[in-house]
Amino acid sequence: MVNLHDIRYVRLGTPDLDSAIKFATRIVGLQLVAREGSMAYFRSDKVDVRGDTRDHTLVYFEGDPREHYTGFDLRNPDDFNHIATEIERAGHPVHVGTEAECAQRRARRFIRFQDPTGNNIEVVERPFHSGPRTFLSRDAGITHFSHIGLRTRNPTADETFWSQVLSARTSDWIGDAPLMRINTVHHTLALFPSTFAGVQHVNHQVEDIDDIMRSYYFLKEKGVRIVFGPGRHPSSGAVFLYFEGPDGMVYEYSTGVRHISAAEETTHQPRQFPFSPESFCMWGSRPDIPEFRSGASASRHPPGPTNLGHEEPSFD
Ligand SMILES: [Fe+2]
Repeated sequence: MVNLHDIRYVRLGTPDLDSAIKFATRIVGLQLVAREGSMAYFRSDKVDVRGDTRDHTLVYFEGDPREHYTGFDLRNPDDFNHIATEIERAGHPVHVGTEAECAQRRARRFIRFQDPTGNNIEVVERPFHSGPRTFLSRDAGITHFSHIGLRTRNPTADETFWSQVLSARTSDWIGDAPLMRINTVHHTLALFPSTFAGVQHVNHQVEDIDDIMRSYYFLKEKGVRIVFGPGRHPSSGAVFLYFEGPDGMVYEYSTGVRHISAAEETTHQPRQFPFSPESFCMWGSRPDIPEFRSGASASRHPPGPTNLGHEEPSFD
C-alpha cells in the first residue's frame, strides 16, 4: 500500500502560456513564483493553514491542453524506495523521474504512472517547502490548493486502484463518482465519469463564504463564465463556486469542507447520493459542467485548438 499524505501540485499543458498566466494571477489570484522557459509556477498556500507552504501548487507549461499531471507526497518519505515495486506489481508501469524532471518538480525524486483510466499520477519524495510568505496576486481569500476532480472512464476500476494501491478511502459516492480522501479532508480527489482522461477541476479553498460571494461578483464583472454556484455540496458541506479557465479547465473556490478525523476513520460509512443536481448542490444551483450533469459526459470532448468553441475573455 502506498500511503499518500497530500496533493502537491497539478501541471497543465496550454497552447497559450501568457493567457494562462494572466488567468491564474488576475482571475484565480495565485502568486506567480517563477517563469522558466515554457513553464510557469504558481503558489497558493497561506503558511498557517497546512503547516507547510508548498513550493508551488500549479504549473502551466506550453504544450497539449489535454496533458495533465497530478503530484502527491508520501506520509513517510522512506516509503519512496519500495512504492515503485508495489505499483508495478499492480500492473502499472512506472517512470522514474530524471534529474531534470526532478528539478522541475522541486523534489528530490519522483515517479510517474497512470491509473486505469490513463490519468498521469506522480509521487514525489521530500518536495520543497517554501520559506518566503505567500503573496497572492488578488484578494480572493485563497488559503490553499486543496483537491482535484479527475476524469474516469471506468469508475469501478479506478476507485479500486486508488483505494487498494494508493490508500484512498471513499467518503461518499454521487452516482458512480467516488469522492475520496487520503487524509482527514473529505475528498482530495473525486473521480467523475467521462470519455477521456485528465483533470476535470482544480479546487482552492478560500477563507469564508464572503470570499465566495465577492468572487462571484468579481468574476461576473470580468466576463468569466461561471459554470456552477454559488452553492453548497450536501456531501462535503462546502460552499462552492465553479468557473471556467483556460482550455476549458474548471476552477473551483470552496470553503467549509468537512473533515473525517482519525477517530472517525473506522466508523465513517460512505453515503450513496443519487446522480442528480440536488446531490451536487443543496441550494438548487444547476451545474453547467458536463460531468456533473447526468448522462452528459458522453458528449464532452477533450480540449483542443478546434473545439474550444467560444471566445476567451482577455483579462487585461
Ligand atoms: Fe471540487
